[in-house]
Amino acid sequence: MGTKDWKTALVTGGAGGLGFELARQCAARGMDVVLVGRNEERLVEAAAQLEFEHNIKAHVVVCDLAKVGAAAKVSARVREVGLVVDVLVNNAGFGYDARFVESDMARQRELILTNDLALVELVGEFAPDMAARKCGGILNVASVAGFMPGPDMATYYASKAFVQSFSQAIHVELRRAGVHVSTLCPGPVRTAFWENADAAHTPISRIALDAPFVASEGFNALCRNKALCVPGALAKTIVFATRLAPRGFVARTAAALQRPRKKK
Ligand SMILES: NC(=O)c1ccc[n+]([C@@H]2O[C@H](COP(=O)([O-])OP(=O)(O)OC[C@H]3O[C@@H](n4cnc5c(N)ncnc54)[C@H](OP(=O)(O)O)[C@@H]3O)[C@@H](O)[C@H]2O)c1
Repeated sequence: MGTKDWKTALVTGGAGGLGFELARQCAARGMDVVLVGRNEERLVEAAAQLEFEHNIKAHVVVCDLAKVGAAAKVSARVREVGLVVDVLVNNAGFGYDARFVESDMARQRELILTNDLALVELVGEFAPDMAARKCGGILNVASVAGFMPGPDMATYYASKAFVQSFSQAIHVELRRAGVHVSTLCPGPVRTAFWENADAAHTPISRIALDAPFVASEGFNALCRNKALCVPGALAKTIVFATRLAPRGFVARTAAALQRPRKKK
């Protein structure tokens, strides 16, 4: 079984931004898609667009992934409509730009539940079946942020380090079962992420890549079962530098990029 046997892809956060472009990559290869998110109207609109563009079937599952039991709910809904998920794209996630001691703990918790726990539980729902069928792919969206500590956005950076470590481990575990696992680690991407994270004012948000390019790099990496995908020369340079520079220096540099620019 190979990538040509992938028929259905489930994409979390598939209504917009990078998730929509990842769903579009799947649809462009003839896969039916299941888009998961909280906003029904946006999901339905995105599904209609993909059906129109690619002549595939697009389903929607409305689910808040920060809620207890979310992954089981998504998987139950998918089985109910008789679908078998060949490709799981764990893309849903958000950032929170705030000094930790001044931050809202409920939002920090929601971030960890969405970015990490839901991702792990969705892999737990779908990977055993992929392994049994010896067919499937899992693309987990982490970030360049996962390579370094991120002062003023501490839990976000840490949540992406978790995604990287978890994904690279299961890449090795599932390789023998013929299931592809790739981790997409973009630098800044032009999406609503920065406004949603209260971070649109930061210098780092201004050097963003286009979402279609990042999605295409990520999907191609999954097809080749590349463990780690870092799209773009700048992001690759950042990752290389984080491996050479002392950790304290890396954290201070990340802090500087995270801070608002001084007004002239
Ligand atoms: N943009 C960047 O610079 C950048 C860089 C590196 C990595 N990333 C990562 O890329 C992924 C996609 O982000 P994006 O840039 O496309 O930002 P975005 O446009 O804000 O999209 C985030 C998506 O996540 C979904 N989501 C958030 N919380 C959710 C929840 N509790 N339950 C279900 N869905 C939820 C949202 O869907 P609903 O609103 O419908 O729930 C939305 O579709 C994230 O994991 C992000 O960390 C982004």
